[in-house]
Amino acid sequence: MRNIVAPKSCFLVLLLLLFASQLASATRKSLNKENPCKRFVLYYHDILFNGSDVANATSATIANETKLGNFKFGKLVVFDDPMTRDNHLHSPAVARAQGFYFYDMKSDYNSWFAYTLVFNSTEHKGTLNIMGADIMAAQTRDFSIVGGTGDFFMARGIATIETDTFQGAKYFRLKMDIKLYECY
Ligand SMILES: *[C@@H]1O[C@H](CO)[C@@H](O)[C@H](O)[C@H]1NC(C)=O
Ligand SMILES: *[C@@H]1O[C@H](CO)[C@@H](O)[C@H](O)[C@H]1NC(C)=O
Ligand SMILES: *[C@@H]1O[C@H](CO)[C@@H](O)[C@H](O)[C@H]1NC(C)=O
Ligand SMILES: *[C@@H]1O[C@H](CO)[C@@H](O)[C@H](O)[C@H]1NC(C)=O
Repeated sequence: MRNIVAPKSCFLVLLLLLFASQLASATRKSLNKENPCKRFVLYYHDILFNGSDVANATSATIANETKLGNFKFGKLVVFDDPMTRDNHLHSPAVARAQGFYFYDMKSDYNSWFAYTLVFNSTEHKGTLNIMGADIMAAQTRDFSIVGGTGDFFMARGIATIETDTFQGAKYFRLKMDIKLYECY
């Protein structure tokens, strides 16, 4: 009896292994870094509230910096920023970036972003949820796109961030190269 069962289960295990390895290589192929399933560039505009420019400001300081180091450690800003297709502040917004960032490094400027891109236009309806470290000294930074809803159902990818202009805390603009590697 044993002689018959053993080769059979061996064969089954082999078959399963073969199937699993093929599945793994198929998944790997679809995640080609150079070949996102969807890609677009948007510009993020942030105007920090100065206490009186209510009509113009798009973000506000919620907690002030602490005295831990000289790089604004602990400062928290919440934003509701327009996202445009080109780098003009007054271009029509195609989405809003809603979320926050805070400074989190004692020895240099560094912050952490977490926000949702909310799309509500005839072209796109849905959200993309994005988070990551903004290492400001680096020319480009990669944030993770951890999920999506609506037109971006279950999407995942990378948002490559580049500072387009920085006019002190008052106004800064980021270029966001949105690359999705999972589209459904
Ligand atoms: C805030 O900004 C507005 C518009 O740029 C300016 O007119 C105003 O004087 C500023 N207020 C303060 C307190 O800096
Ligand atoms: C942060 O500090 C400034 C200047 O000291 C003050 O005017 C402002 O109210 C503070 N903001 C918060 C959120 O504590
Ligand atoms: C989306 O846009 C429509 C039409 O302008 C508006 O009625 C609706 O309230 C918006 N929804 C959200 C979640 O902003
Ligand atoms: C709004 O803020 C932007 C960026 O700081 C500035 O260029 C523009 O002049 C401001 N507009 C008004 C009406 O204050």
